[in-house]
Amino acid sequence: MSTYNENKEFKKITTHVLLAMKQRGERISMLTAYDFSMATILDDAGIDILLVGDSASNVMAGHETTLPITLDQMIYHASSVIRAVKRSLVVVDLPFGSYQGNSKEALNSAIRIMKEAGAHSIKMEGGEEIIDSVKRIISAGVPVMGHLGLTPQSIYKFGTYTVRAKEEEEAEQLVKNAKLLEEAGCFAIVLEKIPAALGKRVAEEIKIPIIGIGAGMHVDGQVLVMHDMLGINKEFNPRFLRRYLNMYEQIFNATKQFITDVKNKDFPNESEQY
Ligand code: KIV
Repeated sequence: MSTYNENKEFKKITTHVLLAMKQRGERISMLTAYDFSMATILDDAGIDILLVGDSASNVMAGHETTLPITLDQMIYHASSVIRAVKRSLVVVDLPFGSYQGNSKEALNSAIRIMKEAGAHSIKMEGGEEIIDSVKRIISAGVPVMGHLGLTPQSIYKFGTYTVRAKEEEEAEQLVKNAKLLEEAGCFAIVLEKIPAALGKRVAEEIKIPIIGIGAGMHVDGQVLVMHDMLGINKEFNPRFLRRYLNMYEQIFNATKQFITDVKNKDFPNESEQY
């Protein structure tokens, strides 16, 4: 197994680079990004994939679910991220309602994201039920990442955000769907909130990279929502989440200090004015 090489080997991450990383056992890193400034930092730090997730609906817009975000809003976020990126592969979620109707509608949505945002690829939730759309989009030259397990756009069907595919029947269906997505030509698949043993099985049986979020340690890469891993959100505490900062507290304290400095006429001082 190769060790982490700070990714100096590649100028730009492409779908082919990701496949090569899986083949040589190098783990793939992926985070969400929705704006220019944060995407600049994450790309400079060497993240492999930036996902313009429809989680923007939650963390940027404050909605309870991912359902309300529109295609126009996704294009706005994606074009901001694209302007920042020099190296990472940018994947953009097709939002709820922009692809479930039929494959022509799905293709039109994917083309809008590629043309108007300048994205590198798109992500879609689902398996068998969207396979015609996946094939049509890929045949138009657009790389597609799949997403199975907990698919938040179907939250009202599931009813809860609990771990998926714990029972054999659902696990077998997930493996079948992963194979269908691979055969259709997807370049990678996200597996969300499933048992680690199932994540391991899929990563072993499928040749394309499997990126997990709450899918255990044996998959080919890991993705987290940036706001969660930076500790900007206080309330979201799933077992799979590792927090690398406590930004809520840091921003809160900095804001408190700013307010105090302004009230005390301490800011600006002599050297901070013209
Ligand atoms: O929208 C998103 O952030 C996602 C990740 C949870 C994988 O789809």
